[in-house]
Amino acid sequence: MEAMILAGGIGTRLRPLSCTRPKMLFPVANRPLLDWTLEKLGKNKVKKTILAINYMADAFIKRYGEKAHRMKIFYSRDLDPAEESLQFSQESLGTGGSIKKAEKLIGHNEPFLVLNGDILTNISYVEFVRKHKASSSIATIALHEVEDPSRYGVVELTDKGRIVRFVEKPSREEAPSNLVNAGIYALSPEIFEYIPKGRRVSIEHEIFPKLAEEGKLQGHIFQGYWTDIGEPSDYLKANRLLLDLETRKEKLGKNATLDSESEIRKPYIIGENAAVGGKTKIGPYAAIGEDVIIGKGVRIENSIIFPRTAISDFASIKGAIIGEAAIIGRYAKIEGGCIVGDNAIIQDNVTLTQGVSVCPSKHVTGSDLTTKCLM
Ligand code: GTP
Repeated sequence: MEAMILAGGIGTRLRPLSCTRPKMLFPVANRPLLDWTLEKLGKNKVKKTILAINYMADAFIKRYGEKAHRMKIFYSRDLDPAEESLQFSQESLGTGGSIKKAEKLIGHNEPFLVLNGDILTNISYVEFVRKHKASSSIATIALHEVEDPSRYGVVELTDKGRIVRFVEKPSREEAPSNLVNAGIYALSPEIFEYIPKGRRVSIEHEIFPKLAEEGKLQGHIFQGYWTDIGEPSDYLKANRLLLDLETRKEKLGKNATLDSESEIRKPYIIGENAAVGGKTKIGPYAAIGEDVIIGKGVRIENSIIFPRTAISDFASIKGAIIGEAAIIGRYAKIEGGCIVGDNAIIQDNVTLTQGVSVCPSKHVTGSDLTTKCLM
């Protein structure tokens, strides 16, 4: 089986962290999001995966090279390297255009998988593609039931599982069901005849509604877990999900040190060479990256700390994401969905709450209690 992962998005909703790395390489439970997906594909009989890349394309090539998780890895760039100096936001091909661009790299003898690169799920890909093959449709969309469908593409299904209608981001009253497009597709090679070449195309907005009209679009409802990583709250949720599920992994990385008076509450993960000081409380739901230094009397829960950050004595971090090599001052308090960019410095005694985001390398000297971006 072959798969394609759409990994070229800019991840605007996760700025400023996405200013310095693509969203698909953000650590989730201390491992890049895409590693989790590739590992799962490798275990689901996928032999070849194409990464459809655009924004910060080289970061993917550097990390995965030609082989990963027992699969051959190929790359399809929305823009050829010579064109990349053009602004990617305007020039990217969208979800449909990037699939079309990769046409030559995909075998045309059987259906293939396409995944949004920013999802975490335990769907069985083998079962999903088997269901698609058993139908006569050109595309099958994996559907997941959610409580509030208003942020997603919602579908109306017939008894036989055919999708007859799409409604994008409906209000709760307008939503025809609670079944949302999970960003996982099984596509037959005929799909390429439906996607125009050489321009930006959204498969969700342009191609799927056409297939639905023609009766060639199937839905497959799956149970289990699923989340996409669009907003900071989704990212924290994905981290909690994997910390709950990931039982194999060593929770304390090599050479990490914990003061005997520190208090660690499960679930958590602490990376290699990290150091945790006395009377510090870590967890539940804390992912501490490698080489992070944490002082004494610190409190960290429901948060993600990227590698090489330093957190000074008595700081408190709750429900926040701290980028790489940041410095958090003594008695600083960072809460409520705040994001601190790479290399930023938060001075002693500063309080940040309510989704404040701090740009990379910014030095914050005063508190901020309302949602805004500190440049
Ligand atoms: P936001 O900017 O915050 O909306 O995030 P995003 O850029 O990731 O967009 P979105 O969440 O809608 O994208 C869904 C998936 O498709 C993600 O895995 C993206 O990486 C991918 N994607 C979106 N647009 C493109 C594109 O133009 N080209 C490629 N190759 N992938 C894309």
